[in-house]
Amino acid sequence: MNIDWEALKLKATQAMKQSYSPYSKFPVGVAALVSDGRFVSGCNVENASYGLTLCAECSLISDLIMSGGGRLLAVVCVDKEGSLLSPCGRCRQLLYEHGGDSLEVLTPEGPKNMEFILPWSFGPKDLS
Ligand code: THU
Repeated sequence: MNIDWEALKLKATQAMKQSYSPYSKFPVGVAALVSDGRFVSGCNVENASYGLTLCAECSLISDLIMSGGGRLLAVVCVDKEGSLLSPCGRCRQLLYEHGGDSLEVLTPEGPKNMEFILPWSFGPKDLS
């Protein structure tokens, strides 16, 4: 599939600008292409109780579900400079649930699928 990575990066950078990150001062934005062609996005939302912080990917998953669900096909995560950011471990699991092994994640070495980003994953298949 032909993914417009630049457009996705731009959407992730726009989402990053909505970040609520007064504690870390580390805004994060993420954007994804969904199987029906729409885009979803998210930003990190911190909390005075630091451990309750919601990563940008959590916000993106909420956007995905609230706007109709579907499968994630491609995702880009950026920092405050708009540079590519590696999704944290927990967020890889969140993304995996809704994209599976074929979800493409943009890295500095180009797009990599979730099978590479999260090898030998635990997921819905293990519960069936
Ligand atoms: N953060 C994300 O939003 N996503 C990630 O994948 C990595 C970390 C946020 C959480 C926190 O608000 C800030 O980055 C610093 O850890």
